[in-house]
Amino acid sequence: MLLTVETLLRPDQVALCRERLAAETWVDGRVTAGEQSARAKRNLQLPEDAPAARELGEMILAALGRNPAFVSAALPLRVFPPLFNRYDAGMAFDTHVDNAIRFAGPVRFRTDLAATLFLTDPADYDGGELIVEDTFGEHAVKLAAGDLVLYPASSLHRVAPITRGSRWAAFFWAQSMIRSDAQRGLLWTLDEAIQALTIKVGQADPQLVSLTGLYNNLLRMWSEV
Ligand code: NI
Repeated sequence: MLLTVETLLRPDQVALCRERLAAETWVDGRVTAGEQSARAKRNLQLPEDAPAARELGEMILAALGRNPAFVSAALPLRVFPPLFNRYDAGMAFDTHVDNAIRFAGPVRFRTDLAATLFLTDPADYDGGELIVEDTFGEHAVKLAAGDLVLYPASSLHRVAPITRGSRWAAFFWAQSMIRSDAQRGLLWTLDEAIQALTIKVGQADPQLVSLTGLYNNLLRMWSEV
């Protein structure tokens, strides 16, 4: 499952992010990497406790909470506070899988889903595609500033080398109420169909009531809250 959310942040919010990030001191990105991925990772990050990271992170979390597509696809239980990274020319992140468990302060998370929120206009850099592998092959993702991609954190993925310019992004993980990517994908498909049918036939349609019940009962059966 790979979900793209267009305009998660408005252009003025992207501009605010870029202005705040430009004033910050970036550090070596290996501070948040596990042992294996530290070898693969060549980028810069904002320290997790930087005030700008917290403030901008809250703005991003608020936008996510208002986004029906994200909520339907991720069924989030916890969202890790967003972090910020930067790839300048020559930097890249080779193929890796993210750590399964992470800490946000004292809180332990399972990383079911990973997200990248692009903060640089794609015309301003070359390379830097996020490449996610699944059973159907490789998907290269390079989105407009303000757009977000959500993908299973269990996937092999990489960031292609930057050959011109600088790519800035926010990234974070979410623990879903549904651990299984396959089950979460089924619920997402069912929810999308229910939403579309509701417009066509109205909420009171008996078959739609039945399908909505089925959705809720699958969620009850599979969720961990
Ligand atoms: Ni990663």
